[in-house]
Amino acid sequence: MILFFSGTGNSKFAAEFLADHLKDKCVSLNEILKHKKEPAFRSEKPFVVCAPIYAGRFPNIIMKLLRAAQFAGSKRIYYVATLASKSCSCEQSLRKMTSDKRMEMGGLFFLTMPNNYVLGGNIPSKDDAEYQIKYVAVPELYRIAETIEMNDVLPEGENHAVTTALSSSVNTLYSKFMVSSDNFVVNEDCVVCRKCERHCPVNNIIIINGDPVFRKRCIGCYGCINICPKKAINIGKKTEDTNRYFCPDYSDWKAKGLT
Ligand SMILES: Cc1cc2nc3c(=O)[nH]c(=O)nc-3n(C[C@H](O)[C@H](O)[C@H](O)COP(=O)(O)O)c2cc1C
Repeated sequence: MILFFSGTGNSKFAAEFLADHLKDKCVSLNEILKHKKEPAFRSEKPFVVCAPIYAGRFPNIIMKLLRAAQFAGSKRIYYVATLASKSCSCEQSLRKMTSDKRMEMGGLFFLTMPNNYVLGGNIPSKDDAEYQIKYVAVPELYRIAETIEMNDVLPEGENHAVTTALSSSVNTLYSKFMVSSDNFVVNEDCVVCRKCERHCPVNNIIIINGDPVFRKRCIGCYGCINICPKKAINIGKKTEDTNRYFCPDYSDWKAKGLT
């Protein structure tokens, strides 16, 4: 069973690719969060969790969900971390969580995909993103699918205690000071298509009197900003001149014969 959480489609693309190539089922953790469903999963094949890296780690909300989840059937979990550039030191926290659940870690894969972090700038154009998916991510996904299909267990990566501790502090500081619902602004280009409201995995956006209103539960996935077809959502003025990015749908990609 392939579980995924995704703000802008990269981890969903990875999960759907793997489900297709491993002839397995795909389950959206976005839906589980959005509709407050019970996180209980059963699979005879290994579990695979695909999720993005935020400030060096899997999103806190996903770690919390996985800690609370019940897994029945297979005892093995693989993790696929989609990220924009660097590897990160999240392996120890995933290993600990996996063994606390009396499960076995099959391995952690890093999958480089286009950057969606609008606050950092450097968002690729549509063409550059598609090039990156086709020539970097897809070949790597074939390799990941093959490893999982063989049921191989990956050796533990090099995890230096200092880097791990540092990444934990960076992540804590990031979650505390950088993730906020306060700075979203919606400009007059908004056509109230409600895509942001539908897409938000934590129901942080509601439409009141014809305007999107942000509540206080943002997890910083930036899905709303990137999915808005009018580029009407910004974080203050900081993102006004930045590109937007949303990953193509895997089934459309496949229909075009791109994999
Ligand atoms: C809040 C936030 C923090 C991020 N932090 C990192 C990071 O530490 N390292 C990195 O390489 N990419 C980082 N990224 C980029 C995403 O991990 C990357 O684009 C990912 O594939 C997005 O996946 P998704 O489309 O499934 O949400 C960050 C993105 C966001 C929104």
